Amino acid sequence: MADIKFFGSSDFPVEMHKVRIIQKLNLLPVDERLDSITDAGNNTFLLKNRNVFLDMLTDSGTNAMSDKQLAAMMTADDSYAGSETFYRLEAKIQEVFGTKYFLPAHQGRACENLLSQVLVTRPGMIVPMNYHFTTTKAHISRFGAEVEEIVVDEGLVVKSKNPFKGNLNVDKLRELIKTRKDDIAFVRLEAGTNLIGGQPVSMANVKEVSELCRKEGIIFVLDASLLADNLYFIKTREDAYKNKTIAQIMLEIGELTDIIYFSARKLGFARGGGICVHRQDLMERIRELVPLFEGFLTYGGMSVREMEALTVGLDETLDMDMISQAPQFISHMVDELSAMNIPVVTPAGGLGCHLNAKEILSHIPQERYPAGALAAALYIVSGIRGMERGTLSEQRNPDGTEPLANMELVRLAVPRRVFTLSQIKYAIDRINWLYQNRGLVGGLKFTEEPKILRFFYGRLAPDSDWQERLVKKFKEDFGESL
Ligand SMILES: Cc1ncc(COP(=O)(O)O)c(C=O)c1O
Repeated sequence: MADIKFFGSSDFPVEMHKVRIIQKLNLLPVDERLDSITDAGNNTFLLKNRNVFLDMLTDSGTNAMSDKQLAAMMTADDSYAGSETFYRLEAKIQEVFGTKYFLPAHQGRACENLLSQVLVTRPGMIVPMNYHFTTTKAHISRFGAEVEEIVVDEGLVVKSKNPFKGNLNVDKLRELIKTRKDDIAFVRLEAGTNLIGGQPVSMANVKEVSELCRKEGIIFVLDASLLADNLYFIKTREDAYKNKTIAQIMLEIGELTDIIYFSARKLGFARGGGICVHRQDLMERIRELVPLFEGFLTYGGMSVREMEALTVGLDETLDMDMISQAPQFISHMVDELSAMNIPVVTPAGGLGCHLNAKEILSHIPQERYPAGALAAALYIVSGIRGMERGTLSEQRNPDGTEPLANMELVRLAVPRRVFTLSQIKYAIDRINWLYQNRGLVGGLKFTEEPKILRFFYGRLAPDSDWQERLVKKFKEDFGESL
């Protein structure tokens, strides 16, 4: 966003775009919100969007498109093979990352499937990474490899001043190389590390990991799904890059990595995904699987309209006015909540504002899913849909025991260019009320628990009548107000 100084008030973010198309929102009365979350098995993924006021579940596929993206969609060249649309996208990828080859895929996890199939060549391998993402881990383990998380120690400290909590601990990587080099399938670095609060990695870290991998002949893969926010943080938090353009930073990242994959539901304000590769041999190994799992090489499961939108969206990613809105809104939310002593992940990252459920609901044991309970409670008191990112998002161990998550977070995603500041202020107000009444919130227990990625469609029930008591208190305080 533009550097605007204020007269007579503290700073706040100003949108550098205007709203030309609107979508009406629906805020149900509190009793109906309780009915909706009950119908959804207390899982915010299962809520119907018509019953949601502010959808802060995710930024995935929910970012706002620009007039230029919509216009480009009209120029899409619909053909199964050899579409002009694809070549425009391929050229844009080559321009922004400097990579030679581009293999399209229908979304981020599809890239993870292809990469895991090709690079995990036998069971017992490991994939060192700063931190896992749910679908990444599921794909890597499906092929018999294990994820080794080596994020810097501060990555797991909820309240911190470290500007790059997503960095990979290079000493730990060196140690792993010393003891298990032959088992390393590839090294993965996730930009804007999702599950620890959208925390960025620094360019210095990308460089160090790259140098080590090159020296040791290990493939270095960057998950660039959340790169847009990470680019903003490199430019604003890393001194050596404050005078570089976003285009220069992106190109440098491209030079330092062997493979970049991304979900275009996040990067590029569109939908889809793809794998960008420098080396021909690697590209050829991955390419074999694209027609089998995704579609022909010039669409890979994406619609041509989305590919056109992505091409323009990647161009817009080079514009600080376009990529700074979400991180600045998140920062505003984090600052306001912190000023009220409400525990949130700091420093503010990208992707969303993350409430620390472990501390807010310290009376609920992790086995009763405090982050899931907080997400359900927040929906009841506000109509805001957040996402549990804690123990519920983990998978049971093979022996049936529950691996307790390092962090219990409720993620309130701020999709790019979607919300206005008054909506963010509404969220802050209701979170504050819930925090003051946190003693009323109880735990959850599973009533239906899927074996894989259970958080997506598992169903849960409250472990007491706490939700009815929460609604009663809400009505006492707010009367008939929504
Ligand atoms: C860091 C990261 N990697 C991969 C993915 C998977 O992408 P998709 O949802 O497009 O399959 C996501 C999605 O949230 C993500 O945040």
